[in-house]
Amino acid sequence: MQVIKDLAAWTERRGQVPAGRSVGFVPTMGALHAGHVSLLERSCAENQVTALSLFVNPTQFNDPQDLKAYPRTFDRDCALAEAAGADYVLAPDYASLYPDGYRYRVTEQAESRVLCGLSRPGHFDGVLTVVLKLLLLARADQAYFGEKDFQQYRLIKGLAEAFFLKTRIVACPTVREPDGLAMSSRNLNLSAEQRAKAPCFHEALLRGGDPGRTRRALADSGFAVDYVEEHWGRRFGAVRLGEVRLIDNVPL
Ligand code: PAJ
Repeated sequence: MQVIKDLAAWTERRGQVPAGRSVGFVPTMGALHAGHVSLLERSCAENQVTALSLFVNPTQFNDPQDLKAYPRTFDRDCALAEAAGADYVLAPDYASLYPDGYRYRVTEQAESRVLCGLSRPGHFDGVLTVVLKLLLLARADQAYFGEKDFQQYRLIKGLAEAFFLKTRIVACPTVREPDGLAMSSRNLNLSAEQRAKAPCFHEALLRGGDPGRTRRALADSGFAVDYVEEHWGRRFGAVRLGEVRLIDNVPL
């Protein structure tokens, strides 16, 4: 596995992949866990070459404290990526990925305005902009995204269609801890007490019924509730335990 930080070096390597070999791409912000690994394994199973990106994208963080607290485990991530079968890790820095200083950005005007888009202003502009840059750099046949971030997946699929990108956008199921908590890099920041409470969030979403009642039940159990809403045949939730924001969704 090769770790490449320089974009010119990446472009050269990418150009050396023979035309007939299919390339899979898994964009991440690092702090890899079994959810990311499932995407990587799928990409390795379906493609001859797999690239992973590791880049904590500042433009998608609306809260500077959240960006500062975001876990960074670069060496461990590279070891996990290699064990999962990745061929390349692309790890650019901010200056090379944003030569324009974020003067140019992608805005979606409808589906990015609800759920996480409403509670995190500017978040999806940052996500869609960095994903467009990464997809253009990777020139992959397939790119893999988790249903854990279902709104993000939908918006990226729409982005690929809107801009005639050649990459097929593939959705992968949410990987959970044995107690049902969706795996997330942010889970590392939960205290033992918060971690013990966290699975109630998924249970409450699964229980169904009136979203307003689910909101009240979660608030009564000590969660700060951001939203519980239904869209696109799924029930979505976002809550906070202390400083840690958790999101999840289940099919209706
Ligand atoms: P990150 O949170 O690191 O997630 C990278 C990919 O892993 C996303 O497609 C996400 O949906 C998927 N993923 C995370 N947890 C998962 C789980 N428990 N099960 C299955 N898949 C899971 O999402 C981002 O990074 C960024 O917004 C990014 C797309 C890289 C743009 O910066």
